[in-house]
Amino acid sequence: MVYGLTPEEKEKLERFKTKLSTFEKNRKNLIPILQSAQQEIAYLPGQALELAAGHLDIPISEVYGVATFYNQFRFIPPGKYPIKICLGTACHIKSSDIILENFERKLGIKEGQTTEDRQFSVERVACVGCCALAPVALVGDALYGKMSPSKVEGIFTRIQVEKEMSLRVHSENESNQ
Ligand code: FES
Repeated sequence: MVYGLTPEEKEKLERFKTKLSTFEKNRKNLIPILQSAQQEIAYLPGQALELAAGHLDIPISEVYGVATFYNQFRFIPPGKYPIKICLGTACHIKSSDIILENFERKLGIKEGQTTEDRQFSVERVACVGCCALAPVALVGDALYGKMSPSKVEGIFTRIQVEKEMSLRVHSENESNQ
């Protein structure tokens, strides 16, 4: 799947461009530059890698090679609702891999991907420190413990209700202005 930059991300890329000029043109700055790009844009689009390569005057293949070596960097935009499934030992024993599969099936994407509308992304994570609640899933900032396949649908219903409520509040505020 190819993800174009949203207008918001284009602005963030411009901000990164400005920050980039504060880095000395030295190869040793490559990782701090990539970290800065990811901090600004939330992931590393190809355009950010090209800018880093141009600034340091090194081949894009070298930038890509370094970026992919470290698992702190992501190359796919996170969804508006990032879904993280814990596959730490306690959760794995309680079949969190099946929960992960349920989310994947529901969204039609695989772990590490984002839906085309950028609403949801799914990824596996290591222990999030709530083993007593295993299996655990995080959706945005919300933690869902003692997950089961039947709870997956409920999470999407809840998100839908929240979205509709916030739309209603937004349109009420607009009509009051
Ligand atoms: S293993 Fe999942 S919260 Fe610890």
